[in-house]
Amino acid sequence: MKLNKKDLLGIKDISVEEINFILETADSFLEISTREIKKVPTLRGKTIINLFYEASTRTRTSFEIAAKRLSADTINISASTSSVAKGETLIDTARNLEAMNPDIIVIRHSAAGAPHLLASQVKQSIINAGDGAHEHPTQALLDMMTIKEKKGKINGLKIAIIGDIAHSRVARSNIYGLTKMGAQITVAGPATMLPRDIEQMGIKVYDKMQEAITGADVIMMLRIQLEREKQNIFPSLREYSQRFCLNRGNIALAKKDVIVMHPGPINRGVEISPDIADDLTQSVILDQVNKGVAVRMALLFLLAGGHE
Ligand code: CP
Repeated sequence: MKLNKKDLLGIKDISVEEINFILETADSFLEISTREIKKVPTLRGKTIINLFYEASTRTRTSFEIAAKRLSADTINISASTSSVAKGETLIDTARNLEAMNPDIIVIRHSAAGAPHLLASQVKQSIINAGDGAHEHPTQALLDMMTIKEKKGKINGLKIAIIGDIAHSRVARSNIYGLTKMGAQITVAGPATMLPRDIEQMGIKVYDKMQEAITGADVIMMLRIQLEREKQNIFPSLREYSQRFCLNRGNIALAKKDVIVMHPGPINRGVEISPDIADDLTQSVILDQVNKGVAVRMALLFLLAGGHE
């Protein structure tokens, strides 16, 4: 099998077979990161550009590490140090990068649809590293890989996603992916943080997080996206954390072997209490980061024609 796609723009557009194929490929790359010499020649001669218009620690770094472990050349461009700061448009930037013949452009942008626009304008493969509040497909893939590793399956699991669903591209991509893979999704968050179309996404919506996490196999906590809120949509962080912070008290409602996930960066004491975040018997937050390198290696490999 090969990934018959030029780009990876979202989880909404890919099939269960394609998700499984990407995850199996990522599995085969996991071991490389444990070697003393963490490098294989698979993508030697390929060039990957990381074009980041928004801040990132995990995604940008793991794309760069993934490319380097496959021996590709990587170039990192951030909006603040590029000609974007002089007013250059996204399309002009992309066309200029295209003229330098890279193989893949990885883009993060605050505007939903920016990667799709690029994909329609340039011949290179485009990977969406997060577009506004729309999708973050590589995060959902690494989350699915983590769940599969920890639980042995996704089908039939009860997965609770808690917090700022409306502004979360992580939640949207995971809801698309996890429902396709057969999980039962429950969500809870303040009414002002739930998208209008949420009932149509095939998930159960609750006002109280306690109802959403009862009996859960997996709890995925979300960061409040203060940077995407146009107005104050909840009274205070204190009130938010009283209702939606995962702590020792409410986690007892989930299954005994529940795993706790968070895409990062975490707001300690706001959406997750520090003792839960740091309890490695339940928290798989750093496992998620670890899987991120393997998933991104798989995607770079598959989109750069590595299967050939
Ligand atoms: N999970 C995630 O996207 O983290 P960064 O914003 O640090 O890339």
